[in-house]
Amino acid sequence: MTAGTHSGLTVSGVSKRFLLRSGQTLTALDNINFELPKTGVGVLLGPSGCGKSTLLRIIAGLETQDEGDITVDGSTVLGPGIDRGMVFQNYSSFPWLTVEENVAFGLKARGEALSLREGVVPYFIKAVKLDGFERAYPHQLSGGMQQRVAIARSLASNPSLLLMDEPFGALDPETRWQMQSLLLEIVHQERTTVLMVSHDIEEALYLGDVVFFMGTRPGRLLETIRPGLEKSSTDRDAILDFDEYRFLERKIRQMMRAQSLDCA
Ligand SMILES: Nc1ncnc2c1ncn2[C@@H]1O[C@H](COP(=O)(O)OP(=O)(O)OP(=O)(O)O)[C@@H](O)[C@H]1O
Ligand SMILES: [Mg+2]
Repeated sequence: MTAGTHSGLTVSGVSKRFLLRSGQTLTALDNINFELPKTGVGVLLGPSGCGKSTLLRIIAGLETQDEGDITVDGSTVLGPGIDRGMVFQNYSSFPWLTVEENVAFGLKARGEALSLREGVVPYFIKAVKLDGFERAYPHQLSGGMQQRVAIARSLASNPSLLLMDEPFGALDPETRWQMQSLLLEIVHQERTTVLMVSHDIEEALYLGDVVFFMGTRPGRLLETIRPGLEKSSTDRDAILDFDEYRFLERKIRQMMRAQSLDCA
């Protein structure tokens, strides 16, 4: 990474093309531009195949863009780094490590002292409700539990930028709700910037300071929405009755419908 000044995430003119076996070129991302300030939560929303996972992988440094630049806290992304944590679309806990070892993994990679790790690891295991399963391996857990291991691991390593690809998809509504609250708590406590993918409009509007609505063919940013809804952690359902919420929900639903007609 090279140093700069802007804090948070900037994505400037990012394009990505894949050469298909047929010889055709698929434009997965076409000139994506946005900024996400520090402690901001950005949500990528859009139909299947619009490039959400590709964009997260590029920001994580796991894939390279054909054009454009990405900076995290002013440093240009040139490859993977421990400043960025990633929760993949398919649960990304390490199968050869126990729950405890998975959660400690990022801290270890950062070279944190053992004494520090010892407090942090049980804290996050408990926060994702996996206490009692410390010594279990991922294959002994349900899909939703494995997903929570991946969430705990990424939160415990305290990255500056947390990239999450549908992190709450396999969770039951109540657990999902608790994980969303945990995420918001950590963001504010640790001043983390989050960019996450969701297919759920309610989740996007509740969590997102900014929602990036993407479209397909080519994958592009169609609209930036700033919900600005008053959030209450005690009465979350109240948000569903806000006029602003209902307006935005309807608008996004219509955009999604228009996109799926485009794809047909
Ligand atoms: N390695 C690859 N080689 C060729 N094409 C790819 C590759 N990775 C992704 N694509 C294509 O790029 C497009 C975007 O894929 P991506 O996985 O980013 O979509 P997505 O928005 O995450 O979709 P979903 O909501 O279904 O997860 C798709 O058309 C996909 O087929
Ligand atoms: Mg995806």
